[in-house]
Amino acid sequence: MVSLKKYLDPLPIPPILKPKYRNEKETFYVVRMMQAYQTLHSELPATRIWGYEGMYPGPVICARKKEKVLIRWENHLPEKHFLPVDKTLHGTMDGPEVRTVVHLHGAKVRPESDGYPEAWFTNNYEQTGSYFSRRVYWYPNCQQAATLWYHDHALGITRLNVYAGLAGFYLLRDSLERKLNLPKGSYEIPLLIQDRSFNPDGSLFYPSQPEPPVPGVAPSITPGFAGDVILVNGKVWPFLAVEPRKYRFRILNGSNQRFYRVRFDPELPIYQIGTDGGFLSAPVKLEELLLAPAERADVIVDFSDCKGKHLILRNDAPVPFPTGTPADPETTGQIMEFRVVLPLKGKDVSFLPDQLCPVIPIPENLAKVRRDFVMTVRRDQYGRLVFLLNGKSWQEPVTEKPQRGVVEIWNLINPGFVAHPIHIHQIQFQLLNRQPFDVEHFNRTQELVFTSPPVPPSPAEQGWKDTIRNNPGEVTRIIARFGPYTGRYVWHCHLLEHEDYDMMRPLEVVSKGAANR
Ligand code: C2O
Ligand code: CU
Ligand code: CU
Repeated sequence: MVSLKKYLDPLPIPPILKPKYRNEKETFYVVRMMQAYQTLHSELPATRIWGYEGMYPGPVICARKKEKVLIRWENHLPEKHFLPVDKTLHGTMDGPEVRTVVHLHGAKVRPESDGYPEAWFTNNYEQTGSYFSRRVYWYPNCQQAATLWYHDHALGITRLNVYAGLAGFYLLRDSLERKLNLPKGSYEIPLLIQDRSFNPDGSLFYPSQPEPPVPGVAPSITPGFAGDVILVNGKVWPFLAVEPRKYRFRILNGSNQRFYRVRFDPELPIYQIGTDGGFLSAPVKLEELLLAPAERADVIVDFSDCKGKHLILRNDAPVPFPTGTPADPETTGQIMEFRVVLPLKGKDVSFLPDQLCPVIPIPENLAKVRRDFVMTVRRDQYGRLVFLLNGKSWQEPVTEKPQRGVVEIWNLINPGFVAHPIHIHQIQFQLLNRQPFDVEHFNRTQELVFTSPPVPPSPAEQGWKDTIRNNPGEVTRIIARFGPYTGRYVWHCHLLEHEDYDMMRPLEVVSKGAANR
């Protein structure tokens, strides 16, 4: 569509959000969602975006473990959406077009503050969804240091609100992290990777129809959208000038559908130190790093032997993943450039430790409940694809009612063609293994016949996860203890077009003794 010069603009670093007040008891923020115009590439006219505090990406929220954080989320957005709203989807048929609700992805919070898709609100809280109960959300931060992120979660339009720019980092820190002496300050940089497409006038392009178009619905959702341009922190193909030393990057795939498999060119090791929910037991040396939408990687990169060099962060993940169109080496196959051109400001005293924070495996024999979930797809009345979990749509009654404190194993069975990144709210879980099965046999008989032994998680996946890749033709087994809070949450595929239609289900954590099925 529009061809843009790569590595023209410096990487923006989103600012840290300032609280309205902070005292011994609590920290209070106000975050306004606003429309703004932002230059996403210096050859493009300013682009209309929706951002937290009018910024895309939103400001970084930093919290310490156990800090009581209160945030009043305010919607100051226009009444009309600037992206094509499909009014045949759940939540969009009647009621206001522009609805918002904020979810802190990866955090353990009470249900009233979790951003339930039907707890939405409009500008000035004039209209609210049936689950809306509060304007000020409470974040207890009672979990270990982790790279979390906040984003919109409004029913039926999450893909559009996030695409419009409603996403930001939330960095949770603790004392263990401080003791580790990792690169910090200007040497610790968040990287939000997203794809977008532009119209020639600089406006964001989002399709209003699938290819080929479906008769009878306009606009219509598509089975998944991937942009033709890659942005990091809201800039198209930016560059970052760095010193020859160690850096810590918090990498987040905030794309609707696109996976990234990244590596440095020329080759440079990536030391992964953390996953979605916190530190790994020990750093893992990687040549390449695979991130599905919503997954995060906390990494250390050492540029000390690269003085004067330019390194490109490349991507070779096909879209849809893993069997779709390969990334184009000239465009979507590139993400950003690192230029090791800054003089070393001082000796690099940061450290890549041998040990981080032990991740203790949840013993499989503790599991009291095992559940099977099949990633399903059917056609709707217009002939469009609807993605579902166990064939159930959002509106159907809750079928997952885990008891608080009880360990469960979930078997995610994918007999389809694309990988689904499955995300569960409130908890951090562990990957047990993945196992290939005979898909053709399964689709005929609904019976699992395994074609090879289970594959244990790679070292980089042996950490706390809240989003996990369920590859086609595999059963992905995860184990979790549910809680600490009871109440209504959700779980879903994090491909945003799937989440909106209709691969999301309610989840009710119940107290012990209550019926669990
Ligand atoms: Cu990041 Cu329910 O989402
Ligand atoms: Cu979440
Ligand atoms: Cu999916």
